[in-house]
Amino acid sequence: MKRIILAYSGGLDTSCAVRWLKENGWQVICFVADLGQGEDFNAIQQRALAAGAVKVYIKDLQDEFLEDFVVPALKANAIYEGRYLLATALARPLIAKYLVEMAHKEKAQAVAHGCTGKGNDQVRFEVSISILDPKLEIVAPVRVWEFKSREEEIEYAKRWNIPIEVTKKRPYSIDRNIWGVSIEAGVLEDLEVEPPEDAYLITKSPTLQATYPKYIEIYFEKGVPKRLDGKVYKLKTLVNHLNVIGGLYGVGRSDLIENRLLGIKSREIYEAPAATILYTGHKELESLVLDREFLHFKELISLKYAELVYYGLWYSPLKEALDAFVNSTQRYVTGSIRLKLFKGNCVAVGRRSKYSLYKKELATYGRQDIFDQKLAEGFIRLWGLPYKR
Ligand code: ARG
Repeated sequence: MKRIILAYSGGLDTSCAVRWLKENGWQVICFVADLGQGEDFNAIQQRALAAGAVKVYIKDLQDEFLEDFVVPALKANAIYEGRYLLATALARPLIAKYLVEMAHKEKAQAVAHGCTGKGNDQVRFEVSISILDPKLEIVAPVRVWEFKSREEEIEYAKRWNIPIEVTKKRPYSIDRNIWGVSIEAGVLEDLEVEPPEDAYLITKSPTLQATYPKYIEIYFEKGVPKRLDGKVYKLKTLVNHLNVIGGLYGVGRSDLIENRLLGIKSREIYEAPAATILYTGHKELESLVLDREFLHFKELISLKYAELVYYGLWYSPLKEALDAFVNSTQRYVTGSIRLKLFKGNCVAVGRRSKYSLYKKELATYGRQDIFDQKLAEGFIRLWGLPYKR
């Protein structure tokens, strides 16, 4: 019998996919990636088996996700269209890697995912898989099956006794991991409507905040966050802490009309408290320790890096080359940034680094000034020289 490895989330689409694949002659093995989505993995396993899977693998990939996918993006300051910190996009190439590994281990000739034919994730999965093993067949049930609505899928699940939690219509489509939450559909499709509070999962409304701001200090070493308020933490613990703290102060929400890879504009809201705090701190530290040309050039790379992540090109040669560049930029990105969290904002208010290029005796307007102002005259004349007629 032909074997297939399905990236299984436990949701309606992938649960129906298990059965549908089975009905289409596949022996289905489910792979569940624990990326910090905070689900009941026991229930997920039971559901996969009830749907007809022969085996279910659940693997905690949080550390690998943070170290090998999130940290490179953080070092690169990769942000898509100014506001999306890429939580969903970064997770796909990692899941793809495990689907391929699992296929080899289980001698399966195909892998499957539950993405629709309209989004970015199908591209990320399939391009990654085809780079990692061009011989693997890829099946995307949701793109080809006969169901035309969620209701029909629910019918199908009921018919096959698949225990689906959401018989009542869940209003949003949500993708969550430790780096952030992506929320779309439902009332969010009406662009004139402000996202209702109930759409947000991990952040409190900025208007319901405490009267006082919260100050935190983050220490980075070569671009990697290591300490919070002086205490050393494992990356996963640090990010979890920052999600809680940031979430309490309403930090890291965004509401974005975004350009998908397939040409569709869509509206998605995001929550990324820890990511927002760490990006803000990291960028602030770079401002302090990188010289002007280096910093400005790196900004161009950030844009390209974010595009590559968003476009599903994580395993491309260009992305690998950019990683080498970005890593070399991080040599002096060591130091502490103090941040103020208040009513949805996160701003840097203090900075310190042994590699700081800030020289107070040059910048000051006070007595200690050592800058020879007479030098400016010649500089300005030469700077303007090319424009003289
Ligand atoms: N628009 C985001 C991206 O392309 C998130 C996609 C998944 N969103 C969701 N709500 N399921 O990376």
